[in-house]
Amino acid sequence: MADVTPGHEPARAEFEVRPAEEDDRIPLTIVFAAVAGERDGIASEPPVDIEASAASADLDSIIVAVAGNQIVGSIGIDRSRYGFGEIGMVVAREWRGRGAGSALLAAAIEWAREHGLHKLSLSVFPHNAAAIALYRKFGFVEEGRRVRHYRRASGELWDAIEMGLPL
Ligand SMILES: CC(C)(COP(=O)(O)OP(=O)(O)OC[C@H]1O[C@@H](n2cnc3c(N)ncnc32)[C@H](O)[C@@H]1OP(=O)(O)O)[C@@H](O)C(=O)NCCC(=O)NCCS
Repeated sequence: MADVTPGHEPARAEFEVRPAEEDDRIPLTIVFAAVAGERDGIASEPPVDIEASAASADLDSIIVAVAGNQIVGSIGIDRSRYGFGEIGMVVAREWRGRGAGSALLAAAIEWAREHGLHKLSLSVFPHNAAAIALYRKFGFVEEGRRVRHYRRASGELWDAIEMGLPL
């Protein structure tokens, strides 16, 4: 067995981070659908229509993490007309804790600055300790809580914490 402790490894340069390309549409959507299938970290749940979702992805505002020729994560910045960007991100389960999330978020912040956004914001489920720690590490602060906001497929209503980073 490899001597690894997920979540406690130093970041390693096993992957690169770059803007999404046309050929990434399906693979990045497959990673997204797998994370949706966990029904835990992101708002989307199955079923994800891979073809439709891949076709509608706005590649201009998506950054991917790639290991070899495999997409292992992505972050999307949804630019509002009011100058802020809303981010959403996923890292494939087997790639978590190795720095891909940090690299993606750093790239998204750089992208947002280059595109003149004044702020990044996001929603995160309160139980998502890994994501909240990642966002705090980059300076995001909690701005509020939406109570019983997301209805899950199970019928449960989950709160969401709103976080923001002025740029
Ligand atoms: C949240 C997520 C994107 C983080 O990606 P990642 O590649 O694991 O992140 P990193 O390896 O760069 O770790 C970043 C930081 O998160 C924190 N972290 C990572 N795993 C953690 C864990 N299991 N528990 C607590 N904190 C954790 C640490 O602060 C870490 O920084 P450090 O290594 O400098 O201490 C990833 O867990 C994921 O895709 N989860 C499912 C989807 C999701 O929740 N998306 C976000 C929705 S808001």
